Amino acid sequence: MQKLLCTIIAGSLCIPFILAAQSGSNVVLPQDKGPDKVDVSAYPADLQKNYKLFVGKCAKCHTIARPINTVMSREEWSRYVKRMMHKPNSGISDAQGKEIFEFLAYDQANRKDKDPKSFFKALSDEEIEKLKAQH
Ligand code: HEC
Repeated sequence: MQKLLCTIIAGSLCIPFILAAQSGSNVVLPQDKGPDKVDVSAYPADLQKNYKLFVGKCAKCHTIARPINTVMSREEWSRYVKRMMHKPNSGISDAQGKEIFEFLAYDQANRKDKDPKSFFKALSDEEIEKLKAQH
């Protein structure tokens, strides 16, 4: 009986760790600490709509500040949105991924490229793994 109880308690202690590992929210990147909004009032109407979709979809596993404060080339964004889309339970369809990419590419060219020093270059996979290992 005691052994069974121990197993149940040890098992339930593990659950938060399993959930954190799945969501990817356990690592804080430098980008996460920056601003969490973009002033899109001067952006074309369809891109303002894509921004709303982006905010709704890309904050599921980490802060929305993370993509808002990361600089990448257009090609890198294209690859990165696909990489995020293909994570388990991303909840992002191909069509939605394309709309989000259009916002990110426009935002890159019209906001981030004008002041690249205010933002962060994407961390390499190795750098992210190092941060994860520190936890
Ligand atoms: C299913 C969970 C999930 C969703 C949804 C998600 N991400 Fe991520 N994101 C992650 C994880 C986990 C990482 C850490 C790196 C890795 O494991 O690929 C990450 C890292 C990032 C980074 C950091 C890149 C770097 O190297 O510094 C950016 C930028 C990013 N995501 C953008 C986005 C965008 C844009 C979207 C919406 C299209 C999105 N994410 C949706 C899980 C997610």
